[in-house]
Amino acid sequence: MYSKFDPGAMTDNTSSNIMFIEDEVFVATESCFLRKVDPRNLDTGEKVDLMKLVGVNMATSHPLTDKDGTTYNLGGSFISGPKYHIIQVPPCKDTNCNGSDPWTASKVIGTIPSSWKTCFSYHHSFGMTENYLIFLEQPMLINTVKIATSQVKGKSLHDCLDWCPEEKVKFHIINKTTGQLLKTKYISEEAFFLFHHSNAYEVDGQIVVDVVAYDSPEIFDKLYLNKVRMNEYSNRHPPQLRRFVIPIVEGKTVRAGEELVHVPGCEASAIRVKDNRLGDHIRLQCQNIGKPGFEMPSHNPKYTGKHYRYVYGTGGYEQGYFCHSASKTDVETGESWLWKGNEYQYPGEPVFVARPDSTDEDDGVLLVTVVDIRKDHKDMMLVLDAKDLSEIARAEVDVPIPNGLHGLFRLEE
Ligand SMILES: [Fe+2]
Repeated sequence: MYSKFDPGAMTDNTSSNIMFIEDEVFVATESCFLRKVDPRNLDTGEKVDLMKLVGVNMATSHPLTDKDGTTYNLGGSFISGPKYHIIQVPPCKDTNCNGSDPWTASKVIGTIPSSWKTCFSYHHSFGMTENYLIFLEQPMLINTVKIATSQVKGKSLHDCLDWCPEEKVKFHIINKTTGQLLKTKYISEEAFFLFHHSNAYEVDGQIVVDVVAYDSPEIFDKLYLNKVRMNEYSNRHPPQLRRFVIPIVEGKTVRAGEELVHVPGCEASAIRVKDNRLGDHIRLQCQNIGKPGFEMPSHNPKYTGKHYRYVYGTGGYEQGYFCHSASKTDVETGESWLWKGNEYQYPGEPVFVARPDSTDEDDGVLLVTVVDIRKDHKDMMLVLDAKDLSEIARAEVDVPIPNGLHGLFRLEE
C-alpha cells in the first residue's frame, strides 16, 4: 500500500484477508478487488471487481457474513463526492446463483455521505450485530484532492492520508434490513485510529462495540521496512482493546447530561451534549479492556454479533506485556492468558477452531502461525488449547510464513 498509488489501477494483490463467502474461499485487500482461490491447491481464481458491481473504489478487507448467509461489506466511493456504500451480498439460496460467483448479486442497500467535502475516512473493517452494522468514521482521512494528483507527483496512498484528531470518531449505525442510517449522532470524546473491530452485540437497546484502537496512526510509520529491519519499533501508542456502548434512542427524548449506558459492570459512558463545533450529539467515552499491546483480534466465529467473552490476539511487533505472544483476553474481567515465544518468534493471528459438538465458547483449539527470524530455524503452526493457551502441538514447515496476515480454517472432508 505504500507503493505509488494509482486510483485508476487499484492493486489486485489481495493479500490482506482470506474468507468464506458461501462455500467459496476469497482473498481481499482494501481495494475494489477480491480474488477467488481454490483451497485445495491455492490456484488463483476469478477476480471480483466491486467497482463494476457496486461502484466502490475501495472496500474493507473484512466482509462479514450473517447467520442467514447474507454477507455485508462497506466501501468508499469518490467518483461523485466522497461517500460510503453499504454492500449486501444475498445468500445463494435467495438468488439461485447455483455455484456461480455470489458477488454478482451484490447490491448497495444504503449510502452514507462523507462528513467531509473532499475526504473520506480510511476504513479496514466494521462491526455487525443482529440488527445493525457499525461503521466508525475515523479521523484518518483519505484526501481525494491528493489522490487526484498522486500519479503526477508519484505519491503513495500513505501520502494521501491526513490525520485530523479534532474531528474525533463518528459512529454510524446502519439498520441491516433497510440500509437506513440512524439519525442520532454519536461521536467519541477522544480521537483514535483503528484497523480492527473485535466484535459487537446488542444488549437491552444498546450496542456494545469492541475495537482495537490506537491513540494515533503512528503504526503506519512504525511498519516501514527500514525501521522493522533495524528493529526500531517504537513503544508509543500501542493498540488497546476499547469498549464503547451505543444507546439506541431513536424517537426517544434524551436529556442532556444523563448517563445512557446501562450495561452491568461496564464503565463506558454515553451522554448527550451540545457542542459548538460538533453539534448536538451523544458523546461516547470508552472503557479500556485488559492490557495494551495486542492486535488481530479474533473470536469463536459462532459468537460474531453476539454476546461473547473471549478475544484472541497477537502481540505482533509490540514490546510490552504481549511481546512475542499469542493471547486470550476475557472481555468481562480483562484477565489474559499467553503463549509466549522467545525473542526471535513472532506469532500471527490466532484462528479459533471449535471442538466438534462443543458448548463452551472457548472449547476448542487456536491455530497460530509463528515466524522465527533466525536463518536456521523453521517457521511453524502452533495448536494451542483455547482454554488456557497451553501448547498441544506444533508443525514446522520448510517455507517462510508471511507475518501479519489473517488466517482461515477449512475442514476438508
Ligand atoms: Fe485486517
